[in-house]
Amino acid sequence: MDYAQALEKLSAAGQEHAMQYYEELTDDQKALLLAQIEATDFTVLSSMQDGKRENVRGDIKPLAAMQLPQIKERETEFKSLGLDAIKKGKVGAVLLAGGMGTRLGSDEPKGVYNIGLTKEVFIFQRLIENLIDVVKEAGAWIPLYIMTSDKNHEATVGFLKEHDYFGYDNAFVTFFMQEMAPACNPQGKVYMEEKFKISTSPNGNGGWYSSMYKWGVAKKAMEDGVEWLNVFAVDNVLQRIADPCFVGAVLSGNYASGAKVVRKCAPDEKIGVICLEDGRPSIVEYYELTDELMNAKDEKGDPAYYFGVILNYLFRVEDLEKIRERKLPLHIVEKKIPYLNEKGEKVKPDAPNGYKFEQLVLDMIHELDGCLPFEVVREKEFAPIKNATGIDSVESARELCKKNGIAL
Ligand code: UTP
Repeated sequence: MDYAQALEKLSAAGQEHAMQYYEELTDDQKALLLAQIEATDFTVLSSMQDGKRENVRGDIKPLAAMQLPQIKERETEFKSLGLDAIKKGKVGAVLLAGGMGTRLGSDEPKGVYNIGLTKEVFIFQRLIENLIDVVKEAGAWIPLYIMTSDKNHEATVGFLKEHDYFGYDNAFVTFFMQEMAPACNPQGKVYMEEKFKISTSPNGNGGWYSSMYKWGVAKKAMEDGVEWLNVFAVDNVLQRIADPCFVGAVLSGNYASGAKVVRKCAPDEKIGVICLEDGRPSIVEYYELTDELMNAKDEKGDPAYYFGVILNYLFRVEDLEKIRERKLPLHIVEKKIPYLNEKGEKVKPDAPNGYKFEQLVLDMIHELDGCLPFEVVREKEFAPIKNATGIDSVESARELCKKNGIAL
């Protein structure tokens, strides 16, 4: 893309100011800026007007979860089905590690955070150790795909190499990068991070499969015989990955997807709940849950919307392929965005000063024909690290690790 083409693209999006320093740049910097303008999708910015409208939800109805007693009854059958699929190489694991982890407050990738007290226990290490448990049980390596972003790719790859993948066979580890989206001020104008660089943020975890596809990683996985992908977040240090019982339950019911869920600890807990929306599986975010839904009861008199998702989903690849091109809703998130002020000086704001645009993996569930909500024991499988202290923090996760006999 040359200067004139870049200016034309920017003008069409009302973002000409991104070229204001062009004449001051070196040739290399000019090339970087032009390449970034070419690669950037500025259309997300127009959703600043549309997207701020309230997200209109369809007709919400309860979706029954497969609960612990039902799972216990069929555990042997599910486990053997799941292990068989894993042994045959049909199940892959996808670690979503492209986020910025801003709430934790570390500049490094979240997975390199050390939660140990008497020894080093890194978040990545905890996840890999959990996955290795299943590798041992199945006697087969599970392909592990790791999604990073422009902001943390090198640091993530370097760290895992340096630690020898915490014992994982690196022939089964593949990295791919997610895309970035421009970040803007409240008026919808992109911020500049450098004179030659527009501010960008990872575009949310919802684009994982299309990024995996663009990198050629999905195609290779299919060629290798992978039929199911277990997608999981970087921050839950207790989660079971490629859990044979979960895999077996989803396979046995012939579902397009499955979602691990936990019983909420309070009706207003800040966790998305699984439901049916216009007859299809869906997830209602905690801030969209009306009082009526929060207090609704099912036919047994139990709370009707009481199973929260923990960002651990199993997807059938065949169905992911069908929805690959679909546009998921854009979520606009308020954020602190470092920027260049009018004098061209770098500013690191203390409070949110703009917006980033994200698509979310939970919205993929609604695109699919079926989803099995699969209950897991909260204290054993849910220890998310979002913050340094307080709720969902390093502190709370350490407590839960201790309760589960994990030495820190
Ligand atoms: P979070 O919603 O906790 O976002 O991500 P975050 O960016 O990591 O953290 P904050 O909000 O800035 O504190 C949930 C999971 O989705 C991944 C994260 O790495 C985490 O595993 N994620 C999030 C991505 O892979 N890409 C993204 O663009 C956003």
